[in-house]
Amino acid sequence: MNILILGSGGRESAFAWKLSQSPKCQNLFIAPGNGGTGQYGTNLNVGVNDFEGIKQAVLANNINLVLVGPEEPLVRGVHDFFLADAELKNIPVIGPQKQGAQLEGSKDFSKQFMARHNIPAAKSETFTRETLQEGLAYLPTIGLPIVLKADGLAAGKGVLICLTLQEAELELIDMLTNAKFGAASSKVVVEQFLQGIELSVFVLTDGNNYKILPSAKDYKRIGEGDTGLNTGGMGSVSPVPFANEEFLNKVEQRIIIPTIEGLKQENIPYKGFIFIGLMNCNGDPYMIEYNCRMGDPETESVMPRIETDLVDLLLGVAEGNLNETELVLSNKVAATVVMVAGGYPGEYLKNKAITGIENVRESHVFHAGTGLHNIDEVITTGGRVLAITSLQDNLFDALQQATADASRIYYDGMYFRKDIGFDLL
Ligand code: AMP
Ligand code: GLY
Repeated sequence: MNILILGSGGRESAFAWKLSQSPKCQNLFIAPGNGGTGQYGTNLNVGVNDFEGIKQAVLANNINLVLVGPEEPLVRGVHDFFLADAELKNIPVIGPQKQGAQLEGSKDFSKQFMARHNIPAAKSETFTRETLQEGLAYLPTIGLPIVLKADGLAAGKGVLICLTLQEAELELIDMLTNAKFGAASSKVVVEQFLQGIELSVFVLTDGNNYKILPSAKDYKRIGEGDTGLNTGGMGSVSPVPFANEEFLNKVEQRIIIPTIEGLKQENIPYKGFIFIGLMNCNGDPYMIEYNCRMGDPETESVMPRIETDLVDLLLGVAEGNLNETELVLSNKVAATVVMVAGGYPGEYLKNKAITGIENVRESHVFHAGTGLHNIDEVITTGGRVLAITSLQDNLFDALQQATADASRIYYDGMYFRKDIGFDLL
């Protein structure tokens, strides 16, 4: 069959790498892809939110299945677009329709969903411009720090952790009355701060059955020791050592089952990945957020640990018989080090020649913000440039190998964290 992946990051490179190994995948396409995805399939020059362009690409290339990488096209309704189109409606899309994508697209929706289904989460209330005074009165009742979240998609920047009441008051006013995050902050969720260690658990569902994929932990800050500005993610490891069987059982019973059952009860169709962002608070899992897709750079650590043919899993989702597929996981440990552009996450350098990729033999080099110049020269085009993933018998070896292999690659301004995962050893 012919498969189209939508997206252009390290996550999509890891999907492409995995799908290209399947004997069932004849032709693989990636739209728009990046400077590395051409190793696994054919890049198509179509943007992820260009639904008409996607339609033309699907018809022209006889695509039989579409896997959506990022959240934006899902929240904008790419799956609904397929279902409403006579020529596309029978082509399965992996990724929820608009309604299900609200689990990520609206923090207010997702918090209310958690509350309706008794899913453990931080205490919170939602406020708008009209209820600003109530919001200000609510702030001192939940303790410090105070978490403020723009309701809508804000490119990962919509969450503020305020250390003082005064800061929270100023920020709440700024978000609601000055549209600090544009329309995304026309509603703000004010939330209690959860103390603990974060991790992510990934679920694949056909809307009825589910498979729990490997858990992972990502490292969000730019600086070593998890300091400095937030980024899209500087590295990841899978599995997460503290997510043992007992903890994951709690996640399944308290979060995953109520989520799948809740979606069913509310007649929200959902075919795709559910990213469960969790805080481990003294051994008990609490929801931080849902995402309607896989994580990046978590996917780069998760895919190498899946031994099952990913096409079989995706077909199980499409056909509603995911329960009939077997998910086999590797016992090995994966570590991913993300190499970023100089200046990232602020304004960053671009169009720098990348050298040394061919010297990496023991790790996967998943391209993210890369492009091709003069057909075959790889250059940097984005903030997160490459994800280097190593799969080894233990965490220490995986971390060492990924870090050593990142050092074999060079471009002007190159930076990566050398402490990814070392807190877990
Ligand atoms: P989100 O966009 O919901 O993933 O939030 C971004 C980050 O803010 C999360 O990955 C957490 O590190 C942090 N965060 C969000 N909500 C909370 C909370 N209630 N308590 C502590 N940290 C939080
Ligand atoms: N790594 C976090 C995310 O994909 O949202």
